Amino acid sequence: MRKKIVVGNWKMNLSRKEADDLVREISQSTSLDNNTEIVFAPPFIYLDSVSSVCLNRQFFSTAAQNCSSYSNGAYTGEISAQMIDSLEVKYVIIGHSERRQNFNETDKVLNLKMNQALKNNLNVIFCCGEDINQREANQHFDIIEKQLSSTIFKLDIHNFKDIIIAYEPIWAIGTGKTASSDQAQEMHSFIRSLIDKRYDNKTGSLTLLLYGGSCNASNAYELFSKEDIDGGLIGGASLNSSDFISIIKSF
Ligand code: 13P
Repeated sequence: MRKKIVVGNWKMNLSRKEADDLVREISQSTSLDNNTEIVFAPPFIYLDSVSSVCLNRQFFSTAAQNCSSYSNGAYTGEISAQMIDSLEVKYVIIGHSERRQNFNETDKVLNLKMNQALKNNLNVIFCCGEDINQREANQHFDIIEKQLSSTIFKLDIHNFKDIIIAYEPIWAIGTGKTASSDQAQEMHSFIRSLIDKRYDNKTGSLTLLLYGGSCNASNAYELFSKEDIDGGLIGGASLNSSDFISIIKSF
């Protein structure tokens, strides 16, 4: 059986104090049961302290929001996968649409980042998703297949086991317009069938698939009740402890 997992992608939000308070409130919450993995993806500057808290708590872990495509050296401002690994961080998010759009990250760059991450013991949360024009033109399945074929499907089966896929339709990110649970399930089941085809049924049935895009305390239960949705990659609603706790409890 696949585990359940909820990832809070804080993006570029929260002061140091707000970050500390949020992690304390969630990690000390007594209302959480122990079956769901809870992942915080804070900005780099807080990653060390959040990671230290999570290392002391079962079922809590951390993700970096990005990593460099280079291994080390004269790359001012960059953070390497090796540095992230040295903080005992478990995951790195790669391929988020905000990085593709605002920082021109191409498939080539994503593949370099992925190689760095996997080489340095990090698991990858790989994002894919179509924009509104592609959805309205009924191209969403083709777009997702292309995004996966040119990136994670280049990995061999041995590396693919360290990949989680997050389906994040761009039109649903930060818009309050969630994909319906049927739309999300339809895409997740399609992605799983692609994994079956590219690798094998066992790999398909073991790969974790997360939904992201305006997932919140009110719609998480319905989304997470779908067969192929193993959890969520949460933006805005992960910045508030009671909302995030409700989402974690929505299985
Ligand atoms: P929102 O939950 O704010 O729509 O963001 C989703 C997302 O991009 C998570 O990575």
